[in-house]
Amino acid sequence: MLLEGKKILIMGIRNKWSIAFGIAKSAYENGAQLLFTYMGEENKEKIESLISEFKGCKAYVLNGASEDEKVREVFTKIKEENGKIDGIVHAIAHANTEDLHNDFILTSKEGYSHACDVSAYSFVLVSRMAKELDMLNENASLVTLTYHGSTKVLEGYNVMGVAKAALEASVRYLADNLGKENIRVNAISAGPIKTLSAKGIKDFNSILDIVEEKAPLHRNVTTTEVGDVATFLLSKMSAAITGQVIYADNGYNIMGV
Ligand SMILES: NC(=O)c1ccc[n+]([C@@H]2O[C@H](COP(=O)([O-])OP(=O)(O)OC[C@H]3O[C@@H](n4cnc5c(N)ncnc54)[C@H](O)[C@@H]3O)[C@@H](O)[C@H]2O)c1
Repeated sequence: MLLEGKKILIMGIRNKWSIAFGIAKSAYENGAQLLFTYMGEENKEKIESLISEFKGCKAYVLNGASEDEKVREVFTKIKEENGKIDGIVHAIAHANTEDLHNDFILTSKEGYSHACDVSAYSFVLVSRMAKELDMLNENASLVTLTYHGSTKVLEGYNVMGVAKAALEASVRYLADNLGKENIRVNAISAGPIKTLSAKGIKDFNSILDIVEEKAPLHRNVTTTEVGDVATFLLSKMSAAITGQVIYADNGYNIMGV
């Protein structure tokens, strides 16, 4: 039980297909006590039923992961009700649909800022607020989710690739800042998975087919496989790892043509 006695906050659960849900399953099976944030007060019942299998967990609404005061408010409540935590998983991203469908060159200033704000700045904010509010136990671990489109051009990923590049650079700077306090910061670069967010990406099914054909392991990843990597990064088994982008993509990223 790699996470026995640890409290882990998982941000960005939406439904049973969410990567956050796969991470929750793995962390729970490994002994973690779970806390969640999700978007939309109207989703309360749906989320509570979804997470009912995780005994003793609690869920909090957070409608703006990149808005300082909203994160402060929900983190203050989480700390008051649960005390300090041992890890945070940030599984939050968003870009405007038109920016994933048009050519990248047409990205508007608003669309560019929005994608970077929600998908990259929010992780900086979450890390800063957790530190400011003294929420983290020593040896805490912060984990975010990224994608290969940060370093390679993948048609349709567009401005989200730019946001993920910013997120990965943020991971390195945060790892340096928080390392002094023995807090680790890493990203998992997950292979493509059919989630609600992924549905916004043009021709997503053909990406899945290409990965199956070309990845060394000739299959696509599951959310629980990504979850197991998160469990490892949240646990003391990864005590020497910080500032890294760890690929969980069945090896697809090593391939040339
Ligand atoms: N699905 C994939 O192929 C894939 C691959 C690599 C990385 N990722 C990343 O994994 C993470 C989780 O995405 P997913 O694929 O599980 O999809 P998902 O749609 O299940 O999760 C995305 C979550 O982000 C939340 N969100 C969006 N905007 C928000 C905001 N302003 N404030 C608070 N929450 C907000 C949504 O409510 C949702 O819970 C994202 O960072 C995504 O980029 C996904």
